[in-house]
Amino acid sequence: MKRLLLLLPLLLSANEDFISHYEYGEMLYNNPRGVSCAQCHGANGEGKVIVKYREAKETKVIKGSDIRQKSLAQMVHTLNSFHEIMPRYYLTDEEVKTIYDYLQKKNEKYLSASQETADEK
Ligand code: HEC
Repeated sequence: MKRLLLLLPLLLSANEDFISHYEYGEMLYNNPRGVSCAQCHGANGEGKVIVKYREAKETKVIKGSDIRQKSLAQMVHTLNSFHEIMPRYYLTDEEVKTIYDYLQKKNEKYLSASQETADEK
């Protein structure tokens, strides 16, 4: 047992090398020390309906927004402030950047396509 404990830090640090920046971002997006971003912003950050309810015969919808085109600065700002629906997270700027990089990479195609249509306008 004692020997295993001595090995533990070694195993943990070795583990870090095996997960890439992208995988780390994926992990943080889905499990960010709090409610998963994917629950409200969808698997790729494309946005998603959180709840629908009826109030005074009207259907109301609460949505998590499409965050694929948000800048890193916007993301850092949002994650460091309080909101009505979105929880307050306590992630470091480095962690937020990792999530940002993950979404950028995951949505590479979508983002370059929307960049092209923006150029045409
Ligand atoms: C409980 C649902 C929920 C969760 C979980 C959540 N969000 Fe949000 N998020 C929202 C909603 C709703 C908004 C719209 C603004 C508001 O709530 O004030 C938002 C806004 C944002 C915005 C700003 C978008 C804009 O329009 O400017 C970003 C960026 C963002 N979220 C990123 C994240 C990330 C990254 C995570 C995970 C660490 C996360 N959110 C987790 C619901 C959520």
